[in-house]
Amino acid sequence: MEHFIRIALWITLIFCQQTNSASIADYRIEKMNTTVTCYEDSRFYAPTNVKTHCITDALDCMRRELSGTAKTECEDFNDYMVNSVDSLDRLIKKRSENYLGLTNSNECACEGYEKKPFVEFVKALESLLQPRNGSGKGGDVRPLWEAELPTSGANKRTVHEKSECGKSIQ
Ligand SMILES: *[C@@H]1O[C@H](CO)[C@@H](O)[C@H](O)[C@H]1NC(C)=O
Ligand SMILES: *[C@@H]1O[C@H](CO)[C@@H](O)[C@H](O)[C@H]1NC(C)=O
Repeated sequence: MEHFIRIALWITLIFCQQTNSASIADYRIEKMNTTVTCYEDSRFYAPTNVKTHCITDALDCMRRELSGTAKTECEDFNDYMVNSVDSLDRLIKKRSENYLGLTNSNECACEGYEKKPFVEFVKALESLLQPRNGSGKGGDVRPLWEAELPTSGANKRTVHEKSECGKSIQ
């Protein structure tokens, strides 16, 4: 039994490490750009010039395009779009937990952005994830994929993160 608990603990530790180390590569930008093929006339809402308070809505818009229109109109043999959607899910959840969630306002609506071919859509996703002023909590300028994650060192958010991970083995 003790042996089992030790293995469970190791699995949890490995899992926690993986979920805590997010990177731009998790969004499969380059992979999607080079391997995914869509119909010639396929177009996707591609948020650009996104207002700071609309960032989470824009991420959700792109998540829905990838799991909706792109899923039916594009070929993706390596499931890169699925990976990207998973990463977007995590980021949206993380932002929501940090009071940077969806506004669902008309101003931030997906339909308000231009529809573009897949490669331009992917390019828009890449720029949305780049560092910019005010995109994170307290005007954070770090890139989105790390802005809402705990910073290194023992601050409050790191402790919170660890205790959350610990819960999964209880
Ligand atoms: C997509 O691929 C093209 C051609 O290789 C390249 O010019 C472009 O910069 C790439 N876009 C992204 C977002 O990686
Ligand atoms: C953030 O704003 C400062 C001051 O306006 C500017 O110098 C800096 O380049 C901006 N950084 C980004 C990532 O936009």
